Amino acid sequence: DDEADLAPRPPVVTVMGHVDHGKTRLLDAIRKTNVQAREAGGITQHVGAYQVSHEHEGVVRDITFIDTPGHETFTAMRARGAKTTDIVILVVAADDGVMPQTIEALNHAQAADVPIVVAVNKIDKPGADPTKARGQLTEYGLVAEEYGGDTMFVDVSALSGIGIDDLLEAVLLTADASLELVANPTADARGTAIEARLDRGRGPVATVLVQRGTLRVGDSIVCGDAFGRVRALLDENGDPIEFAGPSRPAQVLGLTSVPGAGDTFLVAPEDRIARQIAERRQAAERNAQLAKSRK
Ligand code: GTP
Ligand code: NA
Ligand code: MG
Repeated sequence: DDEADLAPRPPVVTVMGHVDHGKTRLLDAIRKTNVQAREAGGITQHVGAYQVSHEHEGVVRDITFIDTPGHETFTAMRARGAKTTDIVILVVAADDGVMPQTIEALNHAQAADVPIVVAVNKIDKPGADPTKARGQLTEYGLVAEEYGGDTMFVDVSALSGIGIDDLLEAVLLTADASLELVANPTADARGTAIEARLDRGRGPVATVLVQRGTLRVGDSIVCGDAFGRVRALLDENGDPIEFAGPSRPAQVLGLTSVPGAGDTFLVAPEDRIARQIAERRQAAERNAQLAKSRK
């Protein structure tokens, strides 16, 4: 991209941590502070990607959040999550302290060279000790600012809402201090499928994160070895949108098959070419399988 085409884009923040330490609940709490908050209409859908607005120093700023599961079996999802993000919020429950998937998540983030903000959650609980997590994480190179290090730790309660604004401030400070967050919004869209599923009524539905360019209804896209024309784009509430620019998560309808989570997508100049690229990938995949089975 030409430098002149680059424009600021919202930070993408992936929430990671041990099972049940409160990642999803924390996202619920964050969505409530959304200055554009409104109730999701009727149908509740599970989409682990949201964009919220937060007023920071008098300016309304968008932040994209992606949830991840903490259960040990979802290692691949966490590894992918750490790679497609600008910042990781590492959630550690103040009562449990550091647990195996806390370490796993921070290893992924450090391997991907992604800055980490630590949210010490559940501080409302009797017996919660927010200093414990700080002490434990020091051993893994995450030293709190108040201990002379350069990692921001924020005490929060996803249940009561304590510390949520401070956490959002910490995220924006991290974004502004260490990251050059720009993308070309006018280019053809490219990005990553975060998750994908087959919906009974709607067919294949992919939740994508646009990383550059703008995705529009009517675009021909290839996603992994799936292809199709974007029939509809839905926001996190399931409401239709016409386009999705850089850092925007959106649900894409119109693919002819279900892509894989983590597959990248791109816009093709026309349907025929999208189909050709996808079919070439499908053939390559079949050949690879065949070669493997011959060994
Ligand atoms: P996985 O996605 O399964 O890894 O779990 P998670 O990290 O998303 O945890 P989740 O948000 O589902 O919360 C797990 C449990 O902890 C739920 O019962 C929450 O209500 C509870 N919980 C989350 N945050 C807090 C908190 O700040 N205080 C208290 N007391 N409970 C909390
Ligand atoms: Na849970
Ligand atoms: Mg969860």
